[in-house]
Amino acid sequence: MHDFHYRGKKLLCEGVAVEALARRFGTPLYVYSQHTLTDHFQKLDRVMSPVEHLVCFSVKSNSNLSLLRVLARLGSGFDIVSGGELQRVLAAGGDPRRCIFAGVGKTEAEIEFALRQNVYSFNAESEAELQRINRVAARLKKTAPVAVRVNPNVAAHTHAKITTGTYENKFGIAFEQIEGIYARAARLKHLRLRGLQMHIGSQLTRVAPFERAVRKILPLVRRLAERYKLEFLSIGGGLGIVYEPALASGSPGWWKTAAARNILTPASYAARLLPRLQPLGLKIVLEPGRFISGNAGILVTRVEYVKRTGRKNFVIVDAAMNDLIRPAFYDAYHEIVPVARKTGASIKSDVVGPICESGDYFCKDRPLPGVGEGDYLALLSAGAYGFVMSSNYNTRPLAAEVLVNGRRAAVARVRQPAKEIWSGEKVVAWLK
Ligand code: LLP
Repeated sequence: MHDFHYRGKKLLCEGVAVEALARRFGTPLYVYSQHTLTDHFQKLDRVMSPVEHLVCFSVKSNSNLSLLRVLARLGSGFDIVSGGELQRVLAAGGDPRRCIFAGVGKTEAEIEFALRQNVYSFNAESEAELQRINRVAARLKKTAPVAVRVNPNVAAHTHAKITTGTYENKFGIAFEQIEGIYARAARLKHLRLRGLQMHIGSQLTRVAPFERAVRKILPLVRRLAERYKLEFLSIGGGLGIVYEPALASGSPGWWKTAAARNILTPASYAARLLPRLQPLGLKIVLEPGRFISGNAGILVTRVEYVKRTGRKNFVIVDAAMNDLIRPAFYDAYHEIVPVARKTGASIKSDVVGPICESGDYFCKDRPLPGVGEGDYLALLSAGAYGFVMSSNYNTRPLAAEVLVNGRRAAVARVRQPAKEIWSGEKVVAWLK
């Protein structure tokens, strides 16, 4: 259940009025609920408690230092994909020994940095990478803990751009080749084979694909664990969330909605997977991103103009695809609600940003309450892959971010000054 709800006509984040935040900090503005973030982490952590486990929050979904600090204090580990993300985790007070380093293209410098920080495991994606990790570890006179990412070749039934566990994808190593790779890796002196990893895709709303993948790799895991004394199995991230209307329809909350729609919940996920995982006796690592941060954030935007063309009603807002690219990139749905609840008939509207591209929209022909200049709208469930995917396209400064905790609200990232956007640029010598 998330902590964005109406009291009377006002949209609140926990105990704070969203409109007051928009006026105080300006828009576009990301607003995060600390309680929602905490709650989602703990719900997952708790259902996994029958087994030794480590929840590694996937930093790519939301890397704001304040959010990472909240999770670090809850004992979260971190799933990182770059040297930069590792530096962020350190800056936020996270424990590098609870970090797993994923990604297909780790550079030598990144491997060296992560080795010096003693990360829990490198999740390797190719044989060439294993050799590179071994080489760097030899140079540093260290032993690198590694796991190999197995591609189980199962369909995840999610958007094509975020499915990762089939042979069409660049990720992992084919199921059939894994044992050969482990045999060769075992001969590399500066590697310690610590685990096995899989991840089949993102925004999975059913448990069945996870179950299929786990069932498929179990015999392999058992053999490898025994042969190489493995310590952990990572079952990746990918747990989906509810994006469709929950708040506008007056639904009491996320978990109820998820259960009613037969969408996976922490309870159903654990109930179906734990009986298979528990007998392994391995530590189970999870890498959820969206599940923890997704429903914990909203993007608040101001209506600048309403443009009626006869055929269409365009609501032009001050946020754009550079602030939240998911609708343009994946045709993703984000619920849009007025920050001050409206009465009156709804109008089919396109909510669009000011960027000069037809793809710069948040919704099309969606029945929305009539709004006018100066009204604020909130795009819900924008806490994952929202701010982190933003850009400076059209020389638009990056939005500000605010964290709310009960009745307190504070800036977690200042709005980027426009000048900063070109501060690293130079007029080259021959043009001076
Ligand atoms: N582990 C690995 C190896 C991953 O590649 C990912 C996400 C995760 C964990 C975390 O997945 P999650 O629990 O958040 O689903 N930008 C896209 C999502 C890209 C996901 C990339 N990998 C979106 O906006 O939907």
